[in-house]
Amino acid sequence: MTEKPWGGVFREATDRRVERFTESISFDRRLYQQDIAGSMAHARMLAQVGLLTPDEANQIITALQEIREEIATGRFPFSDEWEDIHMHIEKSLIDRLGDVGRKLHTARSRNDQVATDFRLWVRDAIDALIPRIRAVQAAFVDRCETDFDVILPGYTHLRRAQPVLAPHYWLAYCEKLERDVERLMDCRKRVNVCPLGSAAVAGTSLPIDREMTARELGFDAPSRNSIDATSDRDFAVEFVFALSLLAVHLSHWAEEWILWSTTEYGFLKLPEGFCTGSSIMPQKVNPDVLELIRGKTARVIGDLQILLVLLKGLPLAYNRDLQEDKPPVFDAYDTVASCLEVAEPLIRGAELNREAIAARLEEGHLDATTLMEYLVSRGIPQRTAHAMVGQLVREAMDRNCRLADLPLDVFRAVEPNLDSRVYGVLGVRNAVQAMHSYGSTSPDEVRRQIDWWREKLAQRP
Ligand code: ARG
Repeated sequence: MTEKPWGGVFREATDRRVERFTESISFDRRLYQQDIAGSMAHARMLAQVGLLTPDEANQIITALQEIREEIATGRFPFSDEWEDIHMHIEKSLIDRLGDVGRKLHTARSRNDQVATDFRLWVRDAIDALIPRIRAVQAAFVDRCETDFDVILPGYTHLRRAQPVLAPHYWLAYCEKLERDVERLMDCRKRVNVCPLGSAAVAGTSLPIDREMTARELGFDAPSRNSIDATSDRDFAVEFVFALSLLAVHLSHWAEEWILWSTTEYGFLKLPEGFCTGSSIMPQKVNPDVLELIRGKTARVIGDLQILLVLLKGLPLAYNRDLQEDKPPVFDAYDTVASCLEVAEPLIRGAELNREAIAARLEEGHLDATTLMEYLVSRGIPQRTAHAMVGQLVREAMDRNCRLADLPLDVFRAVEPNLDSRVYGVLGVRNAVQAMHSYGSTSPDEVRRQIDWWREKLAQRP
């Protein structure tokens, strides 16, 4: 007989190498608060249904509070002889209370216990992340005022396409992040279901009250099926998928700002406190923070991959493989939280190089599409107008000038009905002004979007 809680049937002691190989305490100690909260709710419920006396439940709850305090302050002794956080806490409880401590695990298994702890942890993680995403959105929305009158080239295929207002760019990122928030909130609904009381796989013959523990722990409901509840980790996959897409969005943005802050673009100056230098090239100010946001995205996507592959071959219900679910979830969360933490001040601290942007903005005939739409509004079929403007752009290229610099007779040569009003849609500022459809880039429309965002962020979440 060994000392293990499951040791009754064993004649031989566990090999030390197996203890080291199977332990999860090195990472699942991170679940201690959730584990203790789950045990407290369980103890109260056991007392309610008569499986513990009120005095026994109180002793257990008090001892659990002490244990929580010891872990929080670093005084709790951890050892890999005790596999996981559940066994550590239970062993410590038994050391303190003897037989009373031995009653806590009534009508419970580590299978439903770990599923409950992990759901509580992911729920807390979602609740902690959403305000951080909101802070990044707020940084973009605040920039909208500072940069309201700046016009930037909008790109497609990384070629200059049409002029857009800088705040229109900033709000594009807010929209993407908003869907990330929505995905996390949606995931939270499926996270917030309580497995406790499913026990090992089949439930229990004891008269427990699962509604009560679910309620006590702030879950929306107890899980319906004990086999599913002890084996399900899709909530963790969904969570890490939502994190992956969020990381991908941050990575898009990081890539864009890395490009914009190059000498070649010259659009943006990054705050120096968020750049680092080179050990050999004294002139370098490198965008390492942005590069790492882009790079760490690979890690988060890798974490998602780990979880999916972990689950794909598992028969019902609990299998020990599931213990490997925690490191990728913790890693994805930590990584994304740290990216959000540096993104917010970096967004606030960067400055657009207004003069450099303006100096080259008329390059690339960004007003060609607006000119074409002007012709369409005068009754010319779109395909014909497209060809006409193509000819005009070719003419401007040959003369090495802007469309706005072409004399009226050149316009009249392609369309005799045109008069000097055509100049009213030429030049980037006029072109931006003309884009007033819903969701587009004219100042009035962007102002409306900024107001919408201000109201949205004031409401929270
Ligand atoms: N450390 C385990 C895990 O994280 C706890 C559940 C163990 N259950 C078992 N039947 N061995 O999955």
